[in-house]
Amino acid sequence: MSVKRVGILTGGGDCPGLNAVIRAIVRKGIMVYNCDMTGVQEGWRGMLEGLSVPLDLNAVSGILPRGGTILGSSRTNPYQDGADGGALVRSGMEKMGLDALIAIGGDDTLGVAHRLTDQGIKIVGVPKTIDNDLDGTDQTFGFDTAINIVMEAIDRLHTTAESHNRVMVVEVMGRHAGWIAVEAGIAGGADVILIPEVPFDLDDVCNTIRKRHARGKTFSIVVAAEGAKLDDDSMVLQSQEKDAFGHVRLGGIGNLLSDEIERRTGYESRATVLGHIQRGGSPSAYDRVLGTRFGIAAIDLVHEGNFGKMVALRGQNIIAIDLKEAVSKLRTVDMRLYDIAKVFFG
Ligand code: F6P
Repeated sequence: MSVKRVGILTGGGDCPGLNAVIRAIVRKGIMVYNCDMTGVQEGWRGMLEGLSVPLDLNAVSGILPRGGTILGSSRTNPYQDGADGGALVRSGMEKMGLDALIAIGGDDTLGVAHRLTDQGIKIVGVPKTIDNDLDGTDQTFGFDTAINIVMEAIDRLHTTAESHNRVMVVEVMGRHAGWIAVEAGIAGGADVILIPEVPFDLDDVCNTIRKRHARGKTFSIVVAAEGAKLDDDSMVLQSQEKDAFGHVRLGGIGNLLSDEIERRTGYESRATVLGHIQRGGSPSAYDRVLGTRFGIAAIDLVHEGNFGKMVALRGQNIIAIDLKEAVSKLRTVDMRLYDIAKVFFG
């Protein structure tokens, strides 16, 4: 049976470039493959609650530069509390009249997609997250926009740090992988970068800053991923409460660092938490193009009947890999890149 009715769903934290993916899928799906396209709203929640919207060419016109997702998103997990997610999603798809689904998301959304594939549901995945921590693809869309936002913030913090002879600590997103901290930190000329992959010692951080000040510098920039770990392997939590995928809310490392640096070194310090600013707003040119390429490749896979796959960037090419490969482990920071960043510490 050829696939004619295709649903699109965006799940997890939003990110710039989602609308570029949706636009590309709808455009090629309708104009080249003559499909009927449906938007499933609010991520997996919409699938379970029957929230959908028809997507024609007009619905996706003008959305390329827009941040967020026109479909809405959520962190709903169809398998929560032992539910039979496969049965729930199959029934949702039947009610919406869908033959196949394209799920755009990070490790949680695509982890669900992988389990659904095992239960015989026709799914293709598209890798999305500003954290850039999905395995199997060289890059996720959204990441480029996020690091440009962070780089600009670091540039701005540099000038005020210099005027006031302060240590400025910038807390950025990145739960388990420090890609944003490392790449934006290198681009912004950070003096210390702390990432979840490498637990840090507060005295070492203070000594690095002291040495820098000893050679005449009067200010420093410290970039810390929200998931950066202290040397006892602990992370700073905003709340113990867990979401549907079991994640606690991180946050607070920036303030902790700023307080401790000031207390231990005597240098006046301030913290800036960039938070969701990193996820909002218009996508960069790179993310618009990558999102468009991913969207086209995803609808091509649906047309070919090649399900259980995720589109991925490898070198200059877009390829298809098994969803299983994409969700089996997190892609953490390449230590060769961190070694480059370290040359500029202090
Ligand atoms: O998953 C991406 C991400 O941006 C993480 O870096 C961050 O910890 C989390 O989402 C924040 O999630 P929420 O928007 O649900 O608070």
